[in-house]
Amino acid sequence: MISGFPLFPERASTVAGEVDALYLFLVGLSAFFAVLIAGMVLFFAIRYRRRSPGERPQAVHGSLALELTWTLIPLGIVVFIFLWSAQLFFGMARVPKNPMEIQVVGKRWMWKVQHLTGQREINELHVPVNVPVKLTLTSEDVIHSFYVPAFRVKKDALPGRYATTWFQATKPGRYHLFCAEYCGTNHSAMIGWITVMEPAEFQAWLAGGTPGETAAGAGERLFQELNCVTCHRADAGARGPNLAQLFGSTVKLQGGGTVVADERYIRESIVTPTAKVVEGYQPVMPSFTGMVSEEQILALVAYIQSLKTPDAKAAPPPPAGAEGDNPKAQDGTKR
Ligand code: CUA
Repeated sequence: MISGFPLFPERASTVAGEVDALYLFLVGLSAFFAVLIAGMVLFFAIRYRRRSPGERPQAVHGSLALELTWTLIPLGIVVFIFLWSAQLFFGMARVPKNPMEIQVVGKRWMWKVQHLTGQREINELHVPVNVPVKLTLTSEDVIHSFYVPAFRVKKDALPGRYATTWFQATKPGRYHLFCAEYCGTNHSAMIGWITVMEPAEFQAWLAGGTPGETAAGAGERLFQELNCVTCHRADAGARGPNLAQLFGSTVKLQGGGTVVADERYIRESIVTPTAKVVEGYQPVMPSFTGMVSEEQILALVAYIQSLKTPDAKAAPPPPAGAEGDNPKAQDGTKR
């Protein structure tokens, strides 16, 4: 019914139906009470109108039963809305296991996309159908917002920070990508397309593009060029911690405390190395702010990630229909 009437964007992701159900419930609930209240206003205005100039109504001195009713029923309704929304929100916030990873950098006024396999795209993103896709978003300048109505996905890309979101497309096609945060003159032109392809078609697309350097490969080259390797060595006398097997592990920090070595921590360690110094090391690393672009930092992150799983450097996209098909089969654990 709805798909034939262009009030709603297409539903093309696993969460779209659930988001719409909640939305329609809220609209329906609001409409129900709006009509009910307006109707009662009219009805009471007529039913209890003043019939003669001397008429005086009886005073009412409250009713416990009535007050409890009009408190408890709305309470029940809003708690129900809260639980439903929270369940949906957490489902959308938790990335399914083994996603295909995509790095996205917003820049006035374009979306730069990097596949871990090396393909780069601008204002385009090609993904296979029925595979969870994790996006790591950041911005080189101002706040942008990655918005794909057909997937019901919207996530801000913030300068100096990594935001994560995911989607799993359910049908092949071309879907609009928008920037949903006013970011200057050409904000309205900061648009693009997500192309969802059948797995075989996607493999052909991957093979057809100029493969170029993988994200991890570019990161490895930078790691050499920036001389990171002189301190981050495997031997005992190294001035910096060894980065092999680091990604996703829990790191002990100087002065107590721990941190999980995720994308955010690695980015922070490149930009503000003294913020969280690893136990047993001196805060001697200089900041690389301004020396590396956001895309290069993402490449370094991909490289450090690849050290954890050595074959990730040549990571093939996950096969279609692999684990993670069920968007509900998620847990909050880091990889
Ligand atoms: Cu980027 Cu609006």
